[in-house]
Amino acid sequence: MTGPSVFAEMSALAAQHGAVNLGQGFPDFPGPAFVKAAASQAISADHNQYARMAGLPALVSAIADGASRHHGRLIDPLAEVTVFSGATEALFCSVLALCDPGDEVVLLEPFYDSYLAAVRLAGAIPRIVTLHAEGGFRFDPAELRAAFGPRTRAILVNTPHNPTGRVLDETELSMIAEEVRRTGAYVIADEVYEHIVFEGEHRSIATWPGLAGRTATISSSGKTFSLTGWKVGWAVASPAVSTALRGVHQFVTFATATPLQHAIAAALSAPLAYYAELVADYRARRDRLAETLAAVGLRPFPAEGTYFLLGDARGLGWDDDVAFCRFLVEHARVAAIPLSAFYEQGHRDAGLVRFAFCKRDETLAEADRRLRGHALTPPID
Ligand SMILES: Cc1ncc(COP(=O)(O)O)c(C=O)c1O
Repeated sequence: MTGPSVFAEMSALAAQHGAVNLGQGFPDFPGPAFVKAAASQAISADHNQYARMAGLPALVSAIADGASRHHGRLIDPLAEVTVFSGATEALFCSVLALCDPGDEVVLLEPFYDSYLAAVRLAGAIPRIVTLHAEGGFRFDPAELRAAFGPRTRAILVNTPHNPTGRVLDETELSMIAEEVRRTGAYVIADEVYEHIVFEGEHRSIATWPGLAGRTATISSSGKTFSLTGWKVGWAVASPAVSTALRGVHQFVTFATATPLQHAIAAALSAPLAYYAELVADYRARRDRLAETLAAVGLRPFPAEGTYFLLGDARGLGWDDDVAFCRFLVEHARVAAIPLSAFYEQGHRDAGLVRFAFCKRDETLAEADRRLRGHALTPPID
């Protein structure tokens, strides 16, 4: 079920060939100084012991403050916010808490790879709805409707969306909300890129009528504060759903690293300028990488959010994204991830690859130099 992934293969190849790694989605620049200082201070102050199982009071309060503003309702920090060791743990615990073996869970494909594993580990059955590349990675409303039935227990909704960079619009979220209300399902909303939105606005599906009580809204400090290795994430959900999530969390990790929770509580008090700068910075990096991709014939898809950009290698003559990524890492020495890695059975829109632009200017400049410096058409046997 959970063998070695193409992510691991590409990372190993990247190391072997000394490639510029635009495959894995983690920043290669320093984290914010004020957050690192808060972590050092928490360690020096001997905040060494287990934290409250559901999250340090200072951190859940800071999360509830932000979520109350965003969701337009007062969120109770102690009853409705749970801290996890990363969004991945929050996703896993949500699926396990809400789904019994044999329940169906709707997934929108392509998806972040932990979703399918979590659904299968829970003994639940994935019902997959494809976001069609040719329509700009949108679902067909009839296909969405058909995926919801009497055994549907939950849908996993990721916006802003990894790997496509899409931000789901009001119409799409309303259609999902309609199906959720019709079937009484739950929503597990993965919003880890909530603060990295370039076009339009991020709206939580939990704010749709009738959904606040049936949605676990998941986020993570990793993306917003460029600290992916700290693994501090959380879920905001009604008291009843939060109780269910905590029932799993207490036996998975019990509590998340105490000094890091102190530091993220401090991080969440960042001024609005921090968030504006984050977006401006990533917009510039996105535009820079898009220019590179376009110049070398890897037509970029528009990215409205996240720090990922899809490039289309089909115009260069490729119809196998895995073969193209292997070629790219070995010959141009730039690593990317084949889009098929994000599908249940691979190769749906073969020829598309995901590049991460959460990288230093020098890294993006070196990738540009290497991509322009090598013919990217398939070798002739
Ligand atoms: C869509 C999505 N969800 C969840 C995660 C995992 O977040 P964390 O590192 O907080 O577990 C990622 C990380 O890449 C992601 O892209």
